[in-house]
Amino acid sequence: MSLFSTPFDPARDRALVTGAGNGIGRAIALGLVGEGVRTLFADVSAERVKTAIDASGTPDLARPCVGDLARLDACDELLATASAELGEVSHFVHSASPPRREADHALAVDRRTWQEMHAVNLDAGFHLAREIAKRLIAAKRSGSFLFLTSLHAGTPRNLPHYSTAKAGMAMLVKELAKTFGRHDIRVNALVPGAIAAGGFVADASLARHIPLGRLGEANDLVPMALTVLSNRLSGYVTGAAFVVDGGLSLTNWFEAPVLDA
Ligand SMILES: NC(=O)c1ccc[n+]([C@@H]2O[C@H](COP(=O)([O-])OP(=O)(O)OC[C@H]3O[C@@H](n4cnc5c(N)ncnc54)[C@H](O)[C@@H]3O)[C@@H](O)[C@H]2O)c1
Repeated sequence: MSLFSTPFDPARDRALVTGAGNGIGRAIALGLVGEGVRTLFADVSAERVKTAIDASGTPDLARPCVGDLARLDACDELLATASAELGEVSHFVHSASPPRREADHALAVDRRTWQEMHAVNLDAGFHLAREIAKRLIAAKRSGSFLFLTSLHAGTPRNLPHYSTAKAGMAMLVKELAKTFGRHDIRVNALVPGAIAAGGFVADASLARHIPLGRLGEANDLVPMALTVLSNRLSGYVTGAAFVVDGGLSLTNWFEAPVLDA
């Protein structure tokens, strides 16, 4: 049997993807559906969820859930919908994140924006992952979780609410990976570079800092996301962070050498 032709087990694997209405979350959710995995598309926007599910072409595999993950009760409603629609969630992807505005620097960002960024990225990610893990542990089933973090978990972004939330998520991945490992639940981070996906208003001139010469697209994240999520392909991988950035993080004060033709 070819390893790469069957990364998932459609008979058993069930996925919950937050932020599945747009950008990277949507691309990963559609990728999972494309592999035959029944997937819950969770997002705050009903319109985005509907468009994403329509794009899947398989509404029996792609299921909707609309709610504001900044609210704990909405997280619990999402878990209840997941139970009803999927049974046990075996694969969890946390991609939801509020919009970021370039003007929200350290002196400008208001308390509500700060709290919402942390609530959706960190608080909801922790609550959902812990509740899903409890159920998997009780059922003695394996799991695979993937958190969308950022290069700005480790370097400033001039958006302190965003970088601190992502730094928290990066450590959460390690905490959960260590705690849940004995129960065969893997937890990893996917670290995008500059992806023209929705959450990041991309300036095309940024491409000159990227060794591979272009901004990323949401679909550039999908092969790595599915590989890390797959228990067959990545069964011995946990607590790791996978950078998919075209080499952007290699940028520093030295330009790459100009090579002779
Ligand atoms: N795009 C990039 O360059 C980039 C770089 C690094 C990290 N990331 C991370 O990847 C993830 C996806 O980024 P993207 O660019 O695809 O973002 P996006 O804005 O295109 O998509 C985010 C989705 O989250 C949803 N969302 C926002 N607030 C929500 C809430 N309160 N409850 C439920 N859903 C909510 C939005 O409706 C949207 O559909 C984010 O976590 C982001 O921080 C993106």
